[in-house]
Amino acid sequence: MNIAIVGTGYVGLVSGACFADTGANVTCVDVDEKKVESLKNGEIPIYEPGLEALVIKNVNAGRLKFTSKLEDVLNNQQIVFSAVGTPPDEDGSADLKYVLQVAKTIGEHLQKYIVVVTKSTVPVGTANKVKDTIQRELDKRGVDVPFDIASNPEFLKEGNAIKDFMSPDRVVVGVESDKAKKLLTKLYKPFLINNFRVIFMDIPSAEMTKYAANSMLATRISFMNDIANLCELVGADVNMVRAGIGSDTRIGRKFLYAGCGYGGSCFPKDVKALIHTADKKGYSMEVLKAVERVNERQKSILFEKLQKSFGDTSLCGKTVALWGLSFKPETDDMRESTALVVIDKLLSHGVHVRAYDPVAMNECRRRLGDQVVYCRDMYDAVLNADALLLLTEWKEFRLPSWEVIHKAMNRPLVIDGRNIFDMEELLECGFEYHCIGK
Ligand SMILES: NC(=O)c1ccc[n+]([C@@H]2O[C@H](COP(=O)([O-])OP(=O)(O)OC[C@H]3O[C@@H](n4cnc5c(N)ncnc54)[C@H](O)[C@@H]3O)[C@@H](O)[C@H]2O)c1
Repeated sequence: MNIAIVGTGYVGLVSGACFADTGANVTCVDVDEKKVESLKNGEIPIYEPGLEALVIKNVNAGRLKFTSKLEDVLNNQQIVFSAVGTPPDEDGSADLKYVLQVAKTIGEHLQKYIVVVTKSTVPVGTANKVKDTIQRELDKRGVDVPFDIASNPEFLKEGNAIKDFMSPDRVVVGVESDKAKKLLTKLYKPFLINNFRVIFMDIPSAEMTKYAANSMLATRISFMNDIANLCELVGADVNMVRAGIGSDTRIGRKFLYAGCGYGGSCFPKDVKALIHTADKKGYSMEVLKAVERVNERQKSILFEKLQKSFGDTSLCGKTVALWGLSFKPETDDMRESTALVVIDKLLSHGVHVRAYDPVAMNECRRRLGDQVVYCRDMYDAVLNADALLLLTEWKEFRLPSWEVIHKAMNRPLVIDGRNIFDMEELLECGFEYHCIGK
């Protein structure tokens, strides 16, 4: 099968490499020519475990190619996926300019039947806008080329993207023709050979499913953060509460961890976009508005705990070590990362920041330049620090040598934003320790 994936970000590149690995002939397209050139040279612009090897393997096998010109390859394809970004617009709505640009290019050059699948996260009604845009361009050219549209929202998690794509819990596909359904069934069969879990539905429901899924997960996180903050006030332990409620099969154990707020490229923007969609229809999503407010507050909680520990002493001139910069482990993605909020607050209070992250240092440098000190490793970061803030629960932070850290720090204060350390152990080692919800 010949397919093109437009947009070689986290979703496009992972999808392209995984489809190619099942034997499909995949062309990945991106307008960013520099990115395309580096991909052609086997350089992967993002960090995602296993991706580099998978890309190189499939490039070498001749099944995965890269280009910056969709028009050059469009008419050799049976399916074209659009996996371009849908960043939030100023009012919180999803900005569809990249999605519609792709549709326009398709309409300008299409010569034979194709299925145009939107994989980007887009509000209900976008597939119809894509269809109208393509049709308008075909009409301008005075040609009559049949095509189908479909919606195939992506549920992969950064950091576990290949595994998620290769063995998905389910694949959601919105279609409006049998021909498109057949082609997409054929394409997805290899991933689900033993247990076919493609859920076909109408296109608006598929578009909505993605927003509903992310909003539900974000809701669980904000709910637990709210419970955690209350636990602190009433003398309960949120970890115990999580164990207590997670064992209820109606609730389940996942996504019940209290912490210093969710970030990333999806939850914040998708929650905002759904709120905006509802507002436009004259309906107010009260739960999601609260989810967002709780999350914004939670991103400041580590700084507030730091300030509280220092009491009346000014933070100006103090040194704070940060462990973790990415919005979650196993990725270098810092979009909407809590680290950005914390760093901003620290710098505006005259604090020196020493940061370490296993993979997101370059991304942080790209965003913030030399405003923070980039450290060799986690021990280097705590040198002469007046506090250590844990922001991202990378595995390598889980069992540090606390004696070494105690000696290196100016003040043995640890504020654990992901509840990964053992309070008793830290207190025994002479640290002042704060976490979330305990
Ligand atoms: N990142 C995730 O974990 C994730 C998971 C599920 C869904 N999504 C959704 O998938 C979509 C893509 O997300 P991402 O994180 O991969 O984005 P990204 O920003 O990492 O990548 C988008 C890519 O699209 C390219 N692009 C933009 N306009 C283009 C055009 N006209 N032609 C060709 N290429 C173009 C950009 O250069 C960029 O490389 C978004 O809608 C997002 O919400 C993301």
